[in-house]
Amino acid sequence: MTTERTGCGVPRKEHAGNSMTVYGWVDRRRDHGGVIFIDLRDRSGILQIVINSDKAHEAYEQAKDVRLEWVLKVTGELRLRDAEAVNPNKATGEVELHVSSCEVLARAATPPFPVNEDSEVEESIRLRYRYLYLRRERIQRNLRQRATFVHALRTAMMEQEFTEIETPLLIRATPEGARDYLVPSRISPGSFYALPQSPQLYKQLCMVGGLDRYFQIARCLRDEDLRADRQPEFTQLDIEMSFITEEDIFQVLERTLSSSWKAAEFNGELPSKFPRMTWREAMDRYGVDKPDVRFGLELVDLAPVFRNTSFKVFADVLAKGGVVKGIVIPGGCDIPRSDMEHTYMDIVHRARAHGLTYLYYREEGWVGPAAKFLSEEEWTTFASLTKAKTGDAVVIVADTPGRTAAALGALRNHLGAARKLFDPSENAILWVTEFPMFERDEDTGAIGALHHPFTMVHADDIDKMTEDPLMVRSRAYDIVMNGREIGSGSIRITNPDIQRKVFEALAISPEDQQRKFGFLLEAFEYGPPPHGGFAAGIDRLIMEGLREENIRDVIAFPKNQQAQELMTMAPALVDDAQLRELGIATLPNPRHELSTTPS
Ligand code: AMO
Repeated sequence: MTTERTGCGVPRKEHAGNSMTVYGWVDRRRDHGGVIFIDLRDRSGILQIVINSDKAHEAYEQAKDVRLEWVLKVTGELRLRDAEAVNPNKATGEVELHVSSCEVLARAATPPFPVNEDSEVEESIRLRYRYLYLRRERIQRNLRQRATFVHALRTAMMEQEFTEIETPLLIRATPEGARDYLVPSRISPGSFYALPQSPQLYKQLCMVGGLDRYFQIARCLRDEDLRADRQPEFTQLDIEMSFITEEDIFQVLERTLSSSWKAAEFNGELPSKFPRMTWREAMDRYGVDKPDVRFGLELVDLAPVFRNTSFKVFADVLAKGGVVKGIVIPGGCDIPRSDMEHTYMDIVHRARAHGLTYLYYREEGWVGPAAKFLSEEEWTTFASLTKAKTGDAVVIVADTPGRTAAALGALRNHLGAARKLFDPSENAILWVTEFPMFERDEDTGAIGALHHPFTMVHADDIDKMTEDPLMVRSRAYDIVMNGREIGSGSIRITNPDIQRKVFEALAISPEDQQRKFGFLLEAFEYGPPPHGGFAAGIDRLIMEGLREENIRDVIAFPKNQQAQELMTMAPALVDDAQLRELGIATLPNPRHELSTTPS
């Protein structure tokens, strides 16, 4: 026999007169002496139950001791509420359950934070008592919408004839650029598996294996510094396709994401085609490769103003091949100098630029530290380039092209949010295409692959690979939404000559090529189909869809900023015996004194 159960959020006025049994947690409780009102909560919602000592004495005796978060089984008759007691804000606000029997199924200790409201809870408490936080309505709703979204993604992929394939978790390291999580091997002491940063190489091998259209809802693990939109474990919609061009991949993602977005009832809509912008254009106009295009504040090239300037700092920068760029802030005269000199300066410094200067366009003319350096002719050029109006301000950065773009890009993002320059309900999604193939590490000077070394080089740039690698464009593309990178992918190299040139540009020796990627290069000797793919960050998409600021609120059991899972307290020390079996000796480390239970 199955349990007769009605969900707490289900009863409506048309059910009045029915007798029913509900199960749930005590969300609120009011004792009016002789009558106890309890709001009982389960995943479907909340129902008011009424326990009257005259009518159900035994149940009343049971309910007298009941506290918040106790678990009850309650049977009774559903009745309409008195007119003055109707609560139009609750789905079940027109009815209440008049109880005939009440059974306490479990008692609860006093929760360390209120479960029945969406108040702030300190992060360590929230993560340690995650099961209690999961009871909150917002988190439950987020997780349900997450499940609907993932289900819709899967359905859309199946409908487009993709095959879902599980790739291994215990693998050799993949070249995605972050640190690997390593797993020691017991059978081969001293050897380690890596947990996948992504299924990149396996999905390419699936293409060599003739599977043609692969997808996976893939868990990825990366040991990297964490931020509000980064977790050490996250989930991708991972895709690879054979015999295609970028257009096919774009179409699959546009179709899949916009239909799944709708199915999950996420915020707003996604367009059926996403606009496109090259990486070059994004950097020139917005200073970042993930532009938030919900607002303007585009970068203005001010080099023509300062070409022959008497302002030595700018003249030096330009002479060394640097750039001078600015942002016009409409109405920016209201920004205090202290913001310019501290808040904005800090942002610019964090982007490693030397500094910024600023000009206010007041009624009496331009004022600011740089004003005295401009000649009349320069002011004319400045006015025509900035098109500034009275009341506006202009911030200017002069540095290397990379640092200037990074500084103004970061400042632009700050200004967009601080000055509320966009409609928060808008979804600004776009493709950023033609990423550079290589980038230079600012600290070491070494050249690395911006996406990964198997990304195809732009056909027009193959010849530049030896002389001018930093100018080489690739066939890599990202999806960007509201200034956040949502996913990325590329057409892959299957031509051994081009692959060799890329390895040479990256200074990966033939021995290292064999050691690290020998298996892939060997597979490519057996007829690799032309192919390409994409990976969309599911957690980040859900954050945008639900307008959540923190990735932890869309993941059931997230980790904290130190990559710890505070409920079970992972990572943790293990027994010496277990280490011995794995052939592992650990170095003495003061952190080992840490207790294995959270404080
Ligand atoms: P990439 O490394 O750009 O590409 O990752 C793809 C997308 O995954 C999401 N993402 C993350 N989300 C949460 N926490 C993290 N730590 C994290 N890191 C990445 C982002 C990102 O855009 N194999 C390639 C794809 C390909 O070429 O097909 C890859 O993994 O949304």
